[in-house]
Amino acid sequence: METEKLYDSFGRRVRSLRISLTELCNFRCIYCTTSSISILPSSHYLTRYEIHRFVCIANKLGIEKVRLTGGEPMLREDIVEIVQSVKTTGTQEVSITTNGSRLAPMLSALKKAGLDRINISLDSMNAERFREVTLVHAFREVMQSVFLALKAGFPVKLNMVALKGLTRDEILEFVGLARDWPLDVRFLEFMPLCGEAWRPDLVFPIGEIRSIVQDHFQLEEIPRDDAPAQTFRLISGKGRVGFIGSLTESFCDQCSRIRLTADGNIRPCLFSGTQVPIKALLRENAPDAAIAAAIREAVRIKPAGNAFRNQSFDSSEETLRGAGPAIRKTGG
Ligand code: 5AD
Ligand code: SF4
Repeated sequence: METEKLYDSFGRRVRSLRISLTELCNFRCIYCTTSSISILPSSHYLTRYEIHRFVCIANKLGIEKVRLTGGEPMLREDIVEIVQSVKTTGTQEVSITTNGSRLAPMLSALKKAGLDRINISLDSMNAERFREVTLVHAFREVMQSVFLALKAGFPVKLNMVALKGLTRDEILEFVGLARDWPLDVRFLEFMPLCGEAWRPDLVFPIGEIRSIVQDHFQLEEIPRDDAPAQTFRLISGKGRVGFIGSLTESFCDQCSRIRLTADGNIRPCLFSGTQVPIKALLRENAPDAAIAAAIREAVRIKPAGNAFRNQSFDSSEETLRGAGPAIRKTGG
């Protein structure tokens, strides 16, 4: 039987699913609002069996890639089993986005479980500054994870949320990592998805970051497809650099993603609060057709993009201040 393909109302093909495994995190990044303390019962979260079933059905609708995220996905005690069970659904690519603090000891088990690639958040290569951004002392563990993940044979992407005035002077040092190692360094623009944590003064527009890099390194652009990052190969280097400008250069037109929240809602877009509940269906053991219908509905209501899509964005502090209230994320 031929696999159905999902297209949203704007003709975009949906082929990637991001699954949040927990809302909890052991870091307190200044730009993020996840919590480290859980008062929620474990029934709040989808079980790995529910996740497995959801992914099986999503695959029949043409989902090809699954990324496991959080909060911090490595806080799930059954993370290896989850990777393994998602991989057995026939998903072409299973990846994880982690803060790296608990990754190193798990690498070989994750490899055996079939994990295909790893994204690690790393915002500073200076231990003290790393603590200022994440509010924890875990720099050594994270750096160790980066190199051990490479050694274990994983394709590795480092996500650096560039913060103006705080980590501006590290941009070139990060590109140096991509020059010397076969990994991707991706610069992320601070996104106003964080309620109280929104700090327009810290936004470092992606165009400015790219100019700094282009002034010092020769780059060759790689076709973008549906990737959120504009990616370049370093002409004299082993790795690549990417630029993700969620606000000033939004990539909504190429978006191919939907999300499953840790507590069982399908979100068609990171920037919108609309969602389709799925937990009750999974718990009532609803037929596959009902779950497939919920997935199709989430794709149908996928918005064209965030509030700033296709606007010429002047990135002045005044405009940026307004971006917080204009774009709201509702938890998870
Ligand atoms: N702005 C930009 N990036 C963010 N991340 C988390 N919150 C924000 C934000 N407000 C990053 C994390 C991780 C990636 C998935 O998103 O650092 O690397
Ligand atoms: Fe944790 Fe990632 Fe949020 Fe930092 S950005 S607190 S590592 S979930």
